[in-house]
Amino acid sequence: MANRGKARAHANIALIKYWGKKDDELVLPMNSSLSLTLDAFYTETEVIFNKDIDRDYFYLNGDIQNEAATNRVTRFLNLFRSTAKMNIPAIIKSTNYVPTAAGLASSASGFAALAAAANIASGLNLDHRELSIYARQGSGSATRSIYGGFVEWQKGTGGDDSYAIPIDDAKWDIGMVIVIVNPEKKTVSSRAGMKRTVSTSPFYKGWLESAEEDLKQIKIAIKRRDIEQVGQIAESNSFKMHATMLGAKPPLLYWEPESIMVMEIVRELRNQGILCYLTMDAGPNVKIICKLSEGRIIKRKLEKIFKSKQIIVTGPGPGIVAL
Ligand code: DP6
Repeated sequence: MANRGKARAHANIALIKYWGKKDDELVLPMNSSLSLTLDAFYTETEVIFNKDIDRDYFYLNGDIQNEAATNRVTRFLNLFRSTAKMNIPAIIKSTNYVPTAAGLASSASGFAALAAAANIASGLNLDHRELSIYARQGSGSATRSIYGGFVEWQKGTGGDDSYAIPIDDAKWDIGMVIVIVNPEKKTVSSRAGMKRTVSTSPFYKGWLESAEEDLKQIKIAIKRRDIEQVGQIAESNSFKMHATMLGAKPPLLYWEPESIMVMEIVRELRNQGILCYLTMDAGPNVKIICKLSEGRIIKRKLEKIFKSKQIIVTGPGPGIVAL
């Protein structure tokens, strides 16, 4: 057994959102989703199994983590320990690389990097498909961060056939401009938010029907490299997800006034003939889908309102790599 493994995984932003689970334990989604892996945001994680320690120790950005965070990592590593039939504690050292204190979803890159590192350290040598199944059980969106470019998470029917597949390497003129409206941690996690939406929102049924169709159409648009279609479908899908949240009891609204200011700027840019569309997750930050070659023009426009360091232009990123 290698004992030690280190890997990097990049974050991803969903264009067709995952919102709702049909199985909390196995992390099985209600609908399939599709994302773009990003170059600018990633996590590097090292796992060292050590029989001389009493329990797992988890360090994030150099700081030892509390019991709750460590327990989530322990539960995740137990999947690898049980398959490898070993019961050895580990030291886990993880670093999030983000251009600023972005407060962007780090659970996707986090659990994908952890899965890839644990795979090496445990000597299991699982392939990407299996790793995607493992990563899913840490955090749903991590399923997709195993691969680079455009990635589909097929919802499947059970624990063994719910995994991601690469759709397109995105090696064409597409990217995102990320606007960090507020880097603070969100008050209602995605996990809690989606649970509340599924159980209380009368709009959830409509979401499920239309997400299926959105997925079908966006795959056609990606194949044609049609940014306008990709953007329109993604933007509409994001607003529909937020509409289900507004219908929840009590309602969920992740937007802040500055989020709406970005929406206005996107609309203005579009009127000026620049192809750009927005998507938002369970937080106030806005991600703008555009031609990568036009990212700087969009950033300049946003700089009239936001500080330069709040705006990050990024291209598509790669899948997991061993370090
Ligand atoms: C809105 O993957 O963070 O970003 O599976 O409970 O860990 P858990 O949730 P998480 O949810 C992501 C929700 C989203 C949409 C998406 O990334 O598809």
